[in-house]
Amino acid sequence: MQLIVTKLSVGLWAASYIKGTVQAFGPTKNHPFVLGLPTGATVIDMYAVLRAFVQERLLSFQHIVTFNMDEYIGIPADHPQSYHSYMRQHLFDAVHMPPEHAFIPDGQATDLHAQCQQYENTIARMGGIDLFIGGIGRNGHIAFNEPGTPFHSRTHVQTLSPSTREANARFFLNDISRVPQQAITVGIGTILDAKELLFIANGVQKAAAVSHLISQEPTVDWPLTALKLHPHASLLVDLDACVLLSGDVKTQLDQAREQNPLADQWTVEVK
Ligand code: GLP
Repeated sequence: MQLIVTKLSVGLWAASYIKGTVQAFGPTKNHPFVLGLPTGATVIDMYAVLRAFVQERLLSFQHIVTFNMDEYIGIPADHPQSYHSYMRQHLFDAVHMPPEHAFIPDGQATDLHAQCQQYENTIARMGGIDLFIGGIGRNGHIAFNEPGTPFHSRTHVQTLSPSTREANARFFLNDISRVPQQAITVGIGTILDAKELLFIANGVQKAAAVSHLISQEPTVDWPLTALKLHPHASLLVDLDACVLLSGDVKTQLDQAREQNPLADQWTVEVK
């Protein structure tokens, strides 16, 4: 796995990476690019840059199919804090996304387990995910896979941990009782099946999770450590998210910064 440390905005970096990857792929009607997408505060800037790229005609979503990682159960799709609303607001409405190209789990489905199976089937029907972008939770969750979730898990109903609900209360008027108790999430196995992974973390509040990923063997106690099992995974971070790094990776990062202090980014191979 690669650790990419950028001095600039992680959003700008990630959006530029998506644009370059999509352009290199050359999607067509019959061979669309399949992009896995997250929600959350970390990626708000990434979506703003993607919208700007589309406005400037540097990128088109016409032949991109998207799969979101997760959605709350218990709030309607038009609730302002649903991930359906988030995606409409931050991406879909502005990039003229063909509605039949945008997939988000339906947290209101009457049969949630059938919905999970159907989500997996739809991903498979589209040929799998080419690039999965993700954020990470403070407790190391990826999508809504909480600590303890098996690495082979597929799309499932997840009960949210108190710490995740507390972290997400900021989107629900700081009232934890308003944060849904459950969500539909792609599984860790679903994420690991993607051809490439780019996960993003910024700010000191993510530093503990980042340091666990860097220093630990893969363990279900820290779901993000599953990224180490993927042959083509990167974690993109800012300097604040690196403040708790230690050991070889910290040494290598310090050396890279010393050798090239004016660079915008440094990359360290993580085992
Ligand atoms: C949420 C989402 C995740 C997201 C993470 C980080 O709970 N389910 O997909 O990556 O937490 O969110 P944020 O970027 O707001 O810190």
